[in-house]
Parts: sequence; C-alpha cells; structure tokens
Amino acid sequence: MSNAPLDQSGVWRYREMFPFLDRDEDVVTLREGNTPLLPARRAAEYGGLDNIVFKHQGFNPTGSFKDNGMTCGASQARRLGMDRVACVSTGNTSASMAAYASAGGLQPIIFIPHGNIAYGKLAQALEYGARTLQVDANFDQILALVRVLAERLGIYLLNSINPFRIEGQKSIVIEMMDQRDWNPPDWIVLPGGNLGNVSAFGKALRELCDLGLICKTPRLAVIQAEGSAPFHAFWQDRSAFRPVEHPETLATAIKIGDPVSWPKALHEITSSNGLVEKVTEQEIADAKAIIGRAGIGCEPASAATLAGIRKLTAVGTIRADADVVAVLTGNVLKDPDYIYRYHTGELKDPHGVAIRPTFANAPERVPNDPDAIARLLK
Ligand code: F0G
Repeated sequence: MSNAPLDQSGVWRYREMFPFLDRDEDVVTLREGNTPLLPARRAAEYGGLDNIVFKHQGFNPTGSFKDNGMTCGASQARRLGMDRVACVSTGNTSASMAAYASAGGLQPIIFIPHGNIAYGKLAQALEYGARTLQVDANFDQILALVRVLAERLGIYLLNSINPFRIEGQKSIVIEMMDQRDWNPPDWIVLPGGNLGNVSAFGKALRELCDLGLICKTPRLAVIQAEGSAPFHAFWQDRSAFRPVEHPETLATAIKIGDPVSWPKALHEITSSNGLVEKVTEQEIADAKAIIGRAGIGCEPASAATLAGIRKLTAVGTIRADADVVAVLTGNVLKDPDYIYRYHTGELKDPHGVAIRPTFANAPERVPNDPDAIARLLK
C-alpha cells in the first residue's frame, strides 16, 4: 500500500518541512501536527501559576508526539528504498512507527519490553500490522540488541537516535511558536525519557533564533520520574553520567535508565538556561487527575510536566506569573488501566506502595431501581 497522494497545498507544505525529500511519493503522512494549545485554569492553580497552556500532542493520529518525528523517519526510509523498519519502544514509538510504516508500504518490526507497555499502545502496534517481538529485557537492553540486529539484517532503525526523527519533532516547537504569533513563552516544560524530544526542541529553538523568527529562547524544563531519573542525578552532581540499571515508574513511557540522547539534551538545556527536575509516582498520579478534571487528560508520563511545575513554582524557580507551555506528550486513552486503578484506589507504585487517590472518582454500582438511583442523585 502506498500513501495517499497529496493535494497541491499538501505537497507544498510537506516539501517545505522535509527539504531532504526530493520525491513527493516518498512522503508518508497521516496528517499529523496542528495539535491544539489548551489553557486550563484549574491545572494552572494546581501548578502554582496564574495561567498554563498545554500543547497537546495526544491529538496526533496515533495519540502521541512521536507522529511528528515518524512522518520524517518513515519518509526517509522510503527515500532510501528500505523495505523493513524497526524500533524498540516503551510503547508510543512502536504505535507510531507501526502506523507510518504500514501507511508507507514498509514492514514494521517492533521490539518491546515484555509486560511493560500500556495496552493502548501495544494494541495499536498489533492493529497497524507490526511484527511485534516482546523481549524479556528492559528498554535500554533491547535498544542495544536492536542496534546490533538492524546492522546485521539491514533493517532501518527508527528510534530517536535516527536524526530524521529528531528533525521531524522540531516541528512541535515551530508549530507552537506559529500558534503564538512567534512570541516565545518563558518556559517549555516536557517529560524526559530517552531525551530525544528535548534535543529536538532545543535545536528547533536555536534555529528559530538564528533565523530571526523568535527573539528569545524559552527555558526548557525536563521532568523525569523519580525511579527513572539518571539525567536528573547527573544534572545535580555533574561528575559522571550513571545509568539507572533497573529503572522503575508506572509512567512506562519514560521508564528508561540509560537515555541515549543525554549529551544532546545537556547541550540544549544548558543553552536555554533550562533545568531538570524529578517527581514522585504520587505527584505524577495527582497531577494527571487534575489534567483530567480540566477535561483535557493525558497519559501518566505527560502529567510529570504539571507535577514538575508545581514543584518548581513552590520553590520560586518558576514565577507564578510566568508564561508556561507544558507539552502533553500522549493521549489519555493510552493507559486506561492506570486511570481505573487510580480512581478506585488500587494503584500501587513499583514497590507495591499504594498511591493515594487524592482526586478519586470511582464508578458507583447501583441497583436497577429508579427510586434508589434518584435517592443517590438527590
Ligand atoms: N512522553 C511520552 C508519552 C513518551 O512516549 C515518551 C517516550 C516520552 C514522554 C519521553 O520522550 O524519550 O524523547 O525523552 N517514549 C519513547 C517510546 C521512548 O518508545 O515510545 P523522550
């Protein structure tokens, strides 16, 4: 199956975005991007801010920010004449890669840590026709394995070490600035796992500055989950980068102990006068429920942003009147199991300690009896 032909304006837009693509037939797109900026008063209050705006990447075709990079990566694979593409993933990359590869007539092969990815993501990979290999190892170990296999079998690797993915993810920030009439915010806050996204954001901001499209660079704040926070540890002591051998977090998207892009991320965060923070499982869970109550919703990793902001405003690092954009990286339906457990008080952290359902909203079982239900709803 080849991707649908683009109309004239579509051809023009995508050629601008992918200057390396010489043939329109190579462009693989599912009409990603154009994700909204959503203000949320209650979430701002919770985060200690006067205002907050969420850039919601969960509105993308496969429900995460990976689509902005994958359109580029899959197009480049076609340009190179590859027929098989592979990735290791904590879930979203595999869902996105499966969709874009299949849309572009490529065979997707994905490697995932067995039992450690959310069903919303695994389900997508299966539905989009990916050959799905579940490995009894963690993300970092599988990435090493896949790098060897891709080389040996001549399969094109579509992890974020692929520079074309990073080029594509730059579009998230370019689009954000366009939506804000090229007025950069004071801060852009995003979750960090393998640290590809913050690398892309930093590169985009530097390039926009060089082109004169923006006149100041927002500060980049990366938030990690406490049990998977090697980059935060390094940021604190700066002596040597030490991977976390057994990363743990319920925010499985960012359960990564040895992020490959940390040197690039360090450069970008330093250049933007940014910072790295970490948050607990409880803080992520409560922030996520607050984003949900705003009618917006996101997956656990994305909620690390609001949890981090709350921490950073509490100590005065981010001022209450700051102009802040938090990037929600994944859709609320990626991990419904987590949501159900939180609201019913069944969610436990990776050490088996119960997460308090601070903002619980459990379903109530009622008899098939109008009087009883009326009494309940009075
Ligand atoms: N948020 C979500 C929802 C993610 O899926 C990821 C990464 C991140 C944040 C972290 O972004 O790695 O660029 O720092 N998910 C990857 C995957 C690793 O395989 O889907 P990063």
